[in-house]
Amino acid sequence: MAQFLVLIVFYIFIVSASYGLIIDEDSGSVASTNPTLAEEQAFIKLFGSKDPDEAATCGQLIESRGFEYEVHYVTTEDGYILQNFRIINRYAKESGKKLKPILLLHAFATSCSAWLVNSPAELGFLLANLGYDVWLINVRGTSYSTNHTHLDPEDPQFWDYSFYEIGIYDVTATVEYIKKETGFGEFFSKHLNETIIVVGFSQGTIQLLIQMSAIPGYDKNYDLVILLQPIGFLGDKSGTVGAIPIPLFKQYFSSHNGPFPPMSELAFAALDVLCEKPILTPICTSLIGGIFGFDSQQLNASRIYVYAGLLDRTSNKNLLHFLQFIETDHLCYFDYGEEKNYELYGSAEPPEFPFYKINPKKLVFISGLNDQLATPINVQNLRNSLCDRVDTDHVITDPYFNHGDIVIAKDAFPYVNDVVSRLIEEKMLHDEL
Ligand SMILES: *[C@@H]1O[C@H](CO)[C@@H](O)[C@H](O)[C@H]1NC(C)=O
Ligand SMILES: *[C@@H]1O[C@H](CO)[C@@H](O)[C@H](O)[C@H]1NC(C)=O
Ligand SMILES: *[C@@H]1O[C@H](CO)[C@@H](O)[C@H](O)[C@H]1NC(C)=O
Repeated sequence: MAQFLVLIVFYIFIVSASYGLIIDEDSGSVASTNPTLAEEQAFIKLFGSKDPDEAATCGQLIESRGFEYEVHYVTTEDGYILQNFRIINRYAKESGKKLKPILLLHAFATSCSAWLVNSPAELGFLLANLGYDVWLINVRGTSYSTNHTHLDPEDPQFWDYSFYEIGIYDVTATVEYIKKETGFGEFFSKHLNETIIVVGFSQGTIQLLIQMSAIPGYDKNYDLVILLQPIGFLGDKSGTVGAIPIPLFKQYFSSHNGPFPPMSELAFAALDVLCEKPILTPICTSLIGGIFGFDSQQLNASRIYVYAGLLDRTSNKNLLHFLQFIETDHLCYFDYGEEKNYELYGSAEPPEFPFYKINPKKLVFISGLNDQLATPINVQNLRNSLCDRVDTDHVITDPYFNHGDIVIAKDAFPYVNDVVSRLIEEKMLHDEL
């Protein structure tokens, strides 16, 4: 164990020492879309990484699978400039058909790459192959989306947001952008085939539930809202959250606004390099397992360093809102303390998001029985809070399927992605009749 620690300290030292490394010319375009990942790639190259998926940008991943991509900058109402990706299937594009847009919303502390590394048949590529116009959001604060019209990421105010602002501003600005770019959306809602499909995973589902309940009627833009491991309740202590020392964490994350983790380039690069060493695989597996859940059947441990490379930044305030969410069980507005709550919400406690205002006929739930965050109890509470049954409520048949398995399971295709693509294809067929 002591040896491992020495090794870890050594790697962190080397990685810190090479901080600010000059990126070689041919990775110029990588540095322009994601300087953080360009640095991470430079670090891991020093240690002989040969897997091109490791710490790859979404642009690199998309090209490596034979697709093309576009980068779209979207400015939110509160000034964040998101760098979103669009997968281009050249054959579908050249067919001249109007391709239906599908927006994929990534989870907590990850980014667009989460939809692109679990080949074969990762959801992003599967849908692009089927001829859909696939868009990938990168929410504020991720290594892709650190620009702002007037705030610098060095400024603590930049990090003054949680999944609430992401749902209200980032998701809405992105959907409005897609509407303008594609002509799909509520203007044409006479035909369901001309609305947008959205797919959220984990925090992505929180953002959609917030948006659709806080902006009633916005779901007119959506044809289907597919929620993978939906989280509208988080109070079930039988899951991972039962092990979190909430008061201690609350104290830390409320102390200041800032990014989490605070030194991500170094921390992430060190983690990638460490996880690539087979001798350290068990440590990485438990680290990643601790975050995403344990499912040894579905985890490809020899690829753990690629999954470690999926981790990205978020804000302290986002974590704080999660901690409050665990305590309130039902998803509520951010709790600023009694005085400011009165000012903002007119009540001592922050109000709950009114899920009953969401049209359940647009919703698809896909949930797993061994999910330690969207636990069966939490998902049941969400069902109970809606005004009717959801359109489709699919429970994954593998009893061990856990939270992170959505994006990293060996069998993500038969258990999830195949189910999702069939649902979408059926919906399209139905709309055409
Ligand atoms: C950030 O956004 C501003 C305003 O659109 C732009 O002028 C600037 O070039 C952007 N910076 C980077 C690093 O992309
Ligand atoms: C949607 O369906 C209508 C008829 O039901 C058709 O006129 C229209 O072209 C379709 N739109 C697209 C984008 O396929
Ligand atoms: C697991 O990952 C390794 C290394 O990337 C790969 O060679 C192997 O095919 C993967 N196995 C499965 C079952 O996906």
